[in-house]
Order: sequence, then C-alpha cells, then structure tokens
Amino acid sequence: MTIQAQMKRLTPPAIRARKGGEPIVCLTSYTASTTRLIDPHVDLILVGDSLAMTIYGLDSTVGVTVDMMIAHGRAVARSAAHACVVVDLPFGSYEESPAQAFRTAARVMADTGCAAVKLEGGTEMAETIRFLTARGVPVMAHIGLTPQSVNALGGYGVRGRKPEEAAAILADALAVDAAGAFSVVIEKTTESLSREMTERIAAPTIGIGASVACDGQILVIDDAIGLFTAFRPKFVKRYAEIAQPIAAAAQAYAAEVRARQFPGPEHVFGP
Ligand code: KIV
Repeated sequence: MTIQAQMKRLTPPAIRARKGGEPIVCLTSYTASTTRLIDPHVDLILVGDSLAMTIYGLDSTVGVTVDMMIAHGRAVARSAAHACVVVDLPFGSYEESPAQAFRTAARVMADTGCAAVKLEGGTEMAETIRFLTARGVPVMAHIGLTPQSVNALGGYGVRGRKPEEAAAILADALAVDAAGAFSVVIEKTTESLSREMTERIAAPTIGIGASVACDGQILVIDDAIGLFTAFRPKFVKRYAEIAQPIAAAAQAYAAEVRARQFPGPEHVFGP
C-alpha cells in the first residue's frame, strides 16, 4: 500500500472525533477477502479474538494466541484501504502489567500494520491504557460483558441489570475514558446503562448488544451474514444468509464431480 493510500485511512483520532456525530460503523473481519468487501462501507474493522469461534472452532476466546491475532491482523491490515484497523490483544497477553501490555501491543502493531489495539477490562486496566496511550499505542477499551473473563463471570449473560453491577460498569467506563481510550466497546448491557455511559464519557461508545444509544455499533461479520450458525444472540441482526448458498454450492460441485460433469470442456487446457 502506498503512503497516500495509508493516509486516507481513518485514524483513531478521527474515530474519536466522531463522538456524538454520525454513528460509527464497525464490523469484525479476519481475512483478506472479507476485508476487501466490507472496507469501503465501514469506519472501523476489528480483528476480534472472536476468531476463536468463527475461524478456529474453539468454545471461547480464552485459547487465542498473539500469533493467531498477528496472522489475521496482517491479512486484514494489508487489505483495508479506508477503515481504521484495530486488533484484539488476546487473553493472557496484557493483563499482567502495563509493560507486558506494551510489549504485546508494540509487536502486534509492528507485525500487522494495524492502527490500534483493543483490550478488555475497566478500572483494573486503566493504568495500562494510560501507559499505552502515553507511548503511542491507541487503545480501544472493551467493558460490560468481557468474553475473555467468561470463566470468572460464569457465562455470557447481560451485564448491569443489578444496580451494584451497573455502578461498577459505569465506573469502568469513566476509568477507561479518563485513561485515554480513543473509543469504548460496550457489550451486552441494558439500554439505560449504555445511554448513561455514552452521555458521561468523552470517548465514543461502540455498542454490541448495548442499544442504539451508543455512538456506533459493531457486529461479528460471521453473525451479520449468517455464516456462524452455532447460535444466534438476541442482539444479532442477519443482513444476509450465506450459509445455505455455500452448502448448496458444495453440494452442486460434489454432484458434478461425481457425475464427471466438472470440469467441462471450457475449463480444460488444450494441447
Ligand atoms: O472479538 C470480537 O469480535 C469483539 C467484538 C464482539 C466487539 O470483541
């Protein structure tokens, strides 16, 4: 990619400047071909550790490694010309200390060419977010339901229904905002809590299962296009149903190969 093309890309400060303005459109992507298709239409592409389930068939994001994120982050960053590309820091690669987080983030940014990293956690990660942003690493925070903590949380339920839990999540939002996060993903919280957080912090909020009150929205691409069918959370809207066409194409191909109809004369090289 040329320097001119890179400069046209949306940057973390440009995303931050959209607070309260036109909604920020975000999707996940993990591959070059999907990135090329979605890039002209979205503001931000997240190489999410949801690739655990969508790409690798794992049960949770806990087993994702830095090498996995770098491999997919590189493919996505190389293929996006417009959207701001953010790569998730996986579980265990940043929680120990700000220095550990910086080492991981610097490696991810250098090896992929992404513009920013995302990490999960609120008040407990504020010091790390401050450390990273002061050292040239833009950070997208992720609060509410934090899937990397599924074992501690005991599941993927809605967060913030109880007043004390809502107060803790609001404190998380204020802490990551004060620490300098350029945007904050809010996952699976009630509409009233999402609205209050959006009104009270300076960084744009990006909702997933967090209502239209947020400054932007994100969906996992495989959910949005009906490719991931193992289960469908209530907050997912399907904008396409591509599972059936893929299965039908495989079935048609198999039938033609077995009937010796494919390859046909038009697919064959002459002498
Ligand atoms: O990993 C991911 O895809 C995410 C989004 C769901 C926000 O964190």
